[in-house]
Amino acid sequence: MAPTGTADLVIVANRLPVDRTTNPDGSVGWRRSPGGLVSALEPVMRANDGAWIGWPGGSGDSDLEPFVEDGLQLVPVGLSAEEVVEFYEGFSNSTLWPLYHDVVAKPEFHREWFDSYVRVNERFAARAAEIAAEGATVWVQDYQLQLVPQMLRDLRPDLRIGFYLHIPFPPTELFQQLPWRRQILEGLLGADLVGFQLPGAAQNFIRLVRQRVGHKTHRDMVYLPDGRMVKAAAFPISIDTAGFEELARSETVDRRARAIREALGNPGKIFLGIDRLDYTKGIYARLRAFSELVADGHFGVEDAVFVQVATPSRERVEQYRILRDDIDRLVGRINGDLGRIGRPVISYLHSSYPREEMAALYRAADVMVVTPYRDGMNLVAKEYVACRYDNDGALVLSEFAGAAEELRQAWLVNPYDINGMKQALLAAHQADPKDRGRRMKAMRKTVTEKDVAFWAARFLEELSATRPDHGKTVRPARKS
Ligand code: G6P
Repeated sequence: MAPTGTADLVIVANRLPVDRTTNPDGSVGWRRSPGGLVSALEPVMRANDGAWIGWPGGSGDSDLEPFVEDGLQLVPVGLSAEEVVEFYEGFSNSTLWPLYHDVVAKPEFHREWFDSYVRVNERFAARAAEIAAEGATVWVQDYQLQLVPQMLRDLRPDLRIGFYLHIPFPPTELFQQLPWRRQILEGLLGADLVGFQLPGAAQNFIRLVRQRVGHKTHRDMVYLPDGRMVKAAAFPISIDTAGFEELARSETVDRRARAIREALGNPGKIFLGIDRLDYTKGIYARLRAFSELVADGHFGVEDAVFVQVATPSRERVEQYRILRDDIDRLVGRINGDLGRIGRPVISYLHSSYPREEMAALYRAADVMVVTPYRDGMNLVAKEYVACRYDNDGALVLSEFAGAAEELRQAWLVNPYDINGMKQALLAAHQADPKDRGRRMKAMRKTVTEKDVAFWAARFLEELSATRPDHGKTVRPARKS
């Protein structure tokens, strides 16, 4: 159990790194929850022995006690059924998510959703205030909890507070649509350090603070009237690179990768997409581009197959249901029109898989296709690179994924340009081994040097430096 008031490092995230599940016999169990956030922070937490506050999934559990699972101290915050609808599916995922992703889908603005967002953020802040030791560091994560930094500062001015946004921060013109834009900005300004994936996002934030809240700013600093300073900077997130590589090198994964190729009929080339089933990911456009290449005769169904894994996500949200139906229909049509017996053009899996299976898929895939319309970072692209210790395999990557700023040697594409994507898929498919090797080697250097431990260490060091005379310093132990 997390010792109340004694944690020196507290992570506050919408999700706990586990989901509550009910076994067939009625007993309660825990299962790792999906999403990049969990895999990104777990090693840092273990190294620091901290506490993690989050929602365990589901609804109606207001009385959950803190517990230890697999060495992590977990502090659940329950949501009521109404809060799941209004805070999680509503304000977080039908207002902020589309607004922050270039309005790829239309954001909905409802006042009662925002009221729920305020209430839930208050509950998270109150829990963090209870758990954190005197002078502790609290690191708040992502768009679901943007009001927590200021709420927590009001309750516990002794704390050092960091905030990290995992998704893009929109251009000022789009952010200004939000009826509660000022509240969100003021919420974030409760932090000492506000971290973003890319420098452009930090600049958007600084500009908005100047324009909308009227505070003085200079470069990456905001100067508050009470003398406090807030820094906004970019910290591109990464993955547990060594962990993925080790997994990829294992005998089991190697065997499984060969079995996957075999099961697909040993085609000449395997193309792979792995995404949460989300409208920001550009799944529809990429499948169309691939199918047109087959229809045009560039690939035969013996030469190439596209494996698309789509992890179920936010399934009660309207836009996600529409997307699922659209993809189901598209895959059915492509396979119906172009497939042969035992040879579908698209092998479509609507399911989530453990890390081992992902690593085997990465090992089996000749061309990894990551084509979001907008993405904060995209960890799948980095995981693929981490698993290709053979310096082979080709990555086709959207210019609009944060990862494109680091993985420059990928075949970069504009996902809105279907013909451009077709050309890139062909070029990646036809690239000679020397070219593939050169590109992969360079990208591997990046993800090896800049892994998730590097990311967390940089953020926490920077956070300690923002107010050196204030509170304790958490030293992020690096994985050996
Ligand atoms: C993205 C977000 C995370 C979120 C994850 C999974 O990676 O940045 O905050 O946890 O998606 O989405 P979900 O709605 O299932 O938590």
